[in-house]
Amino acid sequence: MTGNAPISQDLPWTLRLFIFILTFVLNTARRSNGTVNRPFMKVFDSKTSPLKEADVQTTDVIVDTTRDLWFRLFIPTTATTTKLPVIIYFHGGGFVFFSANSNLFEAICKRLAVNLPAVVISVNYRLSPEHRYPSAFEDGFDVIKFIDTSNLKGFPSNADLNRCFLAGDSAGGNMAHHVAVMAGEHEFSKVKVIGIVGIQPFFGAVERTESEIRLDKKTLILSLEITDWYWKAFLPVGENRDHPVVNVFGPRSEAVLGFNFPATIVFMGGFDILKDGQKRYCEGLKKAGKEVHMVEYPNAFHGFYCFPQLKEWSLLIDELKDFIGKQSAAHQ
Ligand SMILES: *[C@@H]1O[C@H](CO)[C@@H](O)[C@H](O)[C@H]1NC(C)=O
Repeated sequence: MTGNAPISQDLPWTLRLFIFILTFVLNTARRSNGTVNRPFMKVFDSKTSPLKEADVQTTDVIVDTTRDLWFRLFIPTTATTTKLPVIIYFHGGGFVFFSANSNLFEAICKRLAVNLPAVVISVNYRLSPEHRYPSAFEDGFDVIKFIDTSNLKGFPSNADLNRCFLAGDSAGGNMAHHVAVMAGEHEFSKVKVIGIVGIQPFFGAVERTESEIRLDKKTLILSLEITDWYWKAFLPVGENRDHPVVNVFGPRSEAVLGFNFPATIVFMGGFDILKDGQKRYCEGLKKAGKEVHMVEYPNAFHGFYCFPQLKEWSLLIDELKDFIGKQSAAHQ
C-alpha cells in the first residue's frame, strides 16, 4: 500500500488494516527469485474445515490423490425442494496463492451458495510456480468431467447439472474463461455450461492499458510489479504477456469460441488496474458474436468481493441472480 493512494471509498479502518496485512503477507511470501515461501504462507492462510451450518453444508470430495485434486461442495440447506443451478468456482490469488478451503474464499462460496441460492463446487487446483500453466486448467476441466461421469455420494438431488456456471474471481475468472473453452470442445453426458462469471478477471498484455498506467501504485491489492510477477510464475518459462492465456484476444490469440460458448458476465471496479484489460476482453467476446454483460462499480478496488460489508457485494449478488435467471430461462 502506498501513502497517497486515491483510495476508492471510505473504507472502515478494520478493513483497511486487513488489506494492509494481507498485502504485506503476500508480498513477503513472493520471493524475488520467482518462488513462493510456502511455510511462511501457511502460517497466515487460515483454513476452514468442512461442516454443517444452519444454512449451508460443506464437504470435500477427492478427485485425484496423485495431484491433490479435490473440491469443496457447498450445499444450501434451506432450498432443498427447488432445482438449484450449479456454480463451479475457481478462487483467486494470482494462480499462486490460496486454496478451496482458505477462509477468505470459503466464505465467498458460502455466501454465493446461500444468497443465490446455488450448489457451489470450489475447485482446489494446483498452484504456480510449482505447477505452471496449463496444470490449473487441466484440474478445472477434470473436475467437470468427474462431476459429469461419477455418481457422487452426497451430491444433492436438486442440483441441476443442466444449468452449470463457471465462475471465478481474479485469476479464477481467467480460469473460468479458459476452462469454458475446453468444456466447449467436449461432449458431456449430464453437464451443460450455460454461463461464465468473471469477477474482476485477471487478463493482461505486453502493452500496458490506460488503467494500469494511471492506477499503478495508487490503489489497493494490485500493482504492475505484482501482476507481472504472477504472470511470470504462471506462464511457461520465457513466455511473455501476449501469450493467448493472458491476452485472450491479442496478436497471438487462438481462441476459437465455439457455437455453444455461453454468455458471460464480467464485474469490474473503477479502482482496479485490471479494469481496461477486462473491458478489452469483453470487447473481444462481443466481436466474436458472444453475449456479454459488463458491470462496473466505479468505487470498487480489486478484491472488493471479499468484503460483504461493502454495498458492491449486495449489488453483485442481485446482478448474478438476474444473470443466472436469464440464462436459465434461455436454456429451458
Ligand atoms: C529462491 O530463494 C529461496 C530463499 O532465499 C531459496 O531457498 C530457493 O532455493 C531459491 N530458489 C531458486 C530457484 O533460486
